[in-house]
Amino acid sequence: MNKQDYYKRFLQENKFPRQLKSYTWKQHDSSVYVYRQGRRLIDFSANDYLGLTKHPMLNERSQAFIKQWGAGLSSSRLVRGNHEVYDQIEKQLAQALGKETTLLFPSGYQANISVLEALFDAHVLTEKPLVFCDRYCHTSLQGGIRHAARFYRFRHNNLAHLAQLLEKTATQSCPKFILIESLYSMDGDIVDLASYIALAKQYQALLYVDDAHAVGARGELGWGEASSHSKDIDIIMGTFSKALGSFGAYIGCSWLLREYLLHKCRGIIYSTALPPAILGAISAAIEIIPQLTEERQRLHAYARYVRKFFVDHGLNYGTSNSYIVPWIIGDAKKTRDMSHYLESHGILAAAIQPPTVPIQQSRIRFCLSAAHQQQDIDYLCEVLKTISTAGSRVTQTLVSK
Ligand SMILES: Cc1ncc(COP(=O)(O)O)c(C=O)c1O
Repeated sequence: MNKQDYYKRFLQENKFPRQLKSYTWKQHDSSVYVYRQGRRLIDFSANDYLGLTKHPMLNERSQAFIKQWGAGLSSSRLVRGNHEVYDQIEKQLAQALGKETTLLFPSGYQANISVLEALFDAHVLTEKPLVFCDRYCHTSLQGGIRHAARFYRFRHNNLAHLAQLLEKTATQSCPKFILIESLYSMDGDIVDLASYIALAKQYQALLYVDDAHAVGARGELGWGEASSHSKDIDIIMGTFSKALGSFGAYIGCSWLLREYLLHKCRGIIYSTALPPAILGAISAAIEIIPQLTEERQRLHAYARYVRKFFVDHGLNYGTSNSYIVPWIIGDAKKTRDMSHYLESHGILAAAIQPPTVPIQQSRIRFCLSAAHQQQDIDYLCEVLKTISTAGSRVTQTLVSK
């Protein structure tokens, strides 16, 4: 075979093609409208739950930081990239999350992969750990568990299954870890953290909670789902790339774990520090998140409204109880066609298909934002109504296109 033939064959055989899509962003003060080929679309595909990507304070602070410190820091934090603002951000964040300390990372993906790699080091632990990870955890957590060698993937958000696996392995004295998300990105379901905490305590497992989709948008002051249980969660991970409007990630942990990760975590040691522009946006987001109570209430009200609409019109949103509302269609092609149909009606919503979700679980994912207006939500419902009323006829036409 020619050097590239393997990849060619993969692409030819791949049933779920992915495509890069480009949209133009005209000067606009809202993050929820994008333009494609001159047409305005209402965006339900992004994770900008509070509309902070366009917030003047984030943008101004970002520009001010570039002006003062330049475009990049050109080295890892352990070399000379440890800009003074890191310290300030990490302290503020620790206080907000109720953790002893925090540690910033270049991205959420990198944080999960590299923190888990460091935690599961069999030399440090003196034996291979046993890891229990929810089957629907983000790919960055799934990537991290490959370093463990011994892991169980329990049924999604199924406490009974997790308890059963923990019990089955209770006699093994090796270090144990439980990995979950607080709000799952493809299903929009929020977990019962107290029950996971109880299991982690009972079986002396380290509990790692990815709060990426909850931070900013949930919790009394917006510090996520995990912050109200912070004393009982060993590691809280979160991103600045979703409701917090910019980029980068953090973990909240003990001083001891922070110290350890500074020695072992490749994502920190061998990666360039976040650039000043991003640090500026992060520092502004941290200041304003507690003030956005009204935005959070609006977001939750939109979510209740859309889910009720789904119930009233017989659309399947699975187990969602948040502002991520999937419409589970099943067939991947039908789902892609439906996403195109929605786009032709001015609605941008991602078709999520295998391998991101299981086969026959393809869905259109609607991510709501406080930056949407009620009329955007009403328009979405109106378009969905035409589809649900026309029922299989519309689907049939789309499929046969
Ligand atoms: C649950 C979860 N964790 C981690 C990540 C990765 O975060 P980032 O986009 O900051 O790399 C994502 C991103 O989609 C996510 O959904």
